[in-house]
Amino acid sequence: MDTGYRVRDISLAPSGAEKINWVSRFMPVLRRIGERFREERPLEGLKVAACLHVEMKTAFLALTLQQAGAEVSLAASNPLTTQDDVAAALAEEGVRVFAWRGETDEEYFENIDRALDVRPDLVIDDGADMIARLHSHRTELLDGVVGATEETTTGVIRLRAMEREGALRIPVVAVNDALCKYLFDNRYGTGQSTWDGIMRATNLLIAGKSVVVAGYGWVGRGIAMRARGLGARVIVTEVDPIRALEAAMDGFEVMPMSEAARVGDIFVTATGDVDVITAEHFRVMKDGAILANAGHFNVEVSVEDLESAAARKRRVRPCVTEYEMSDGRRLYLLGEGRLVNLVCADGHPAEIMDMSFSLQALAVEYLARRGRDLNPGVHLLPREIDERVARIKLESMGIRIDELTEEQRRYIESWKL
Ligand code: ADE
Repeated sequence: MDTGYRVRDISLAPSGAEKINWVSRFMPVLRRIGERFREERPLEGLKVAACLHVEMKTAFLALTLQQAGAEVSLAASNPLTTQDDVAAALAEEGVRVFAWRGETDEEYFENIDRALDVRPDLVIDDGADMIARLHSHRTELLDGVVGATEETTTGVIRLRAMEREGALRIPVVAVNDALCKYLFDNRYGTGQSTWDGIMRATNLLIAGKSVVVAGYGWVGRGIAMRARGLGARVIVTEVDPIRALEAAMDGFEVMPMSEAARVGDIFVTATGDVDVITAEHFRVMKDGAILANAGHFNVEVSVEDLESAAARKRRVRPCVTEYEMSDGRRLYLLGEGRLVNLVCADGHPAEIMDMSFSLQALAVEYLARRGRDLNPGVHLLPREIDERVARIKLESMGIRIDELTEEQRRYIESWKL
């Protein structure tokens, strides 16, 4: 029987509904957009396929798009980040969800295909797996796709690579590159949720520990800043000289991973690249070192090297795997080296996803109205939409700001002596 969804257990729906209800209370910008969407129905008759982390804030976005008139299908953007109760609640609400926690790699792509089977007009992606799938295995659907949006840095980097090779055949709005996205989600969102994941997984103290943060992009900055706030000694590793300098002047120690590996108690990767922590580092790490990844893919901590270096491996807590080296040292990998904030906790706080997903909702509306005029390629979200989200957010926080006077506006727009 085709139920229109595939989830772990539909009877979990009431618990998922409670979670969605809780976060919606703290997502005022998206709520406001949803109210307008209910009246204007800007997505009436359109099909939206999304590939996102299936958790409660994502669910509220999916329901908001439904209110705009869209038929929504949803697959997970990571095999381990789905909350099964939230998936069940969405299925009950008529979203075509194909996701469960613990999908095999094969099931992961099968579910993306199932979400694409609706023949979408619009696509929302997080990491660009759905867009890559469209351009490799599901090219027959491309002509029907008006446009797509991309949530995360890694996805935008992949899409720009596709664009450079002339392979990208649809317009994609890089929601990640909106100011109201990366300045807040990547920095404060990941800064908090990564530590939420590490602390929930381990129940250990951060104060007094040596924390090594690999990568000083917006995500690394947030993680380092919050580690300092928790009382850690923070070391940053970088490959970019300017970012390294910035980390040093922000007051962090900067050194190569080969040195940091010897002194770190907790390692967090946030580079977006492969093989950041490998066999040479595992060889010199302290007994009890903790390894976590905050980047999109599970490639930053080499799990393969860890598996071959270990004499024994066992699960010691729900989110912690112990690898015992042949010399008796034990290293602890959190969340199988996948996104620690979503695998070991609930992802970013609701107030942050309020901004990110409001931008997503408005980007989808923008594509529905204007996508046919856009060329294939990566596009920025218009500044006006970014500012609209900031203004509603400020208003919801009870913060008022000044406005330029006519005279001030004239002054900054003139150049004559
Ligand atoms: N919740 C939903 N999507 C997320 C993301 N990309 N990062 C953190 N939390 C999320």
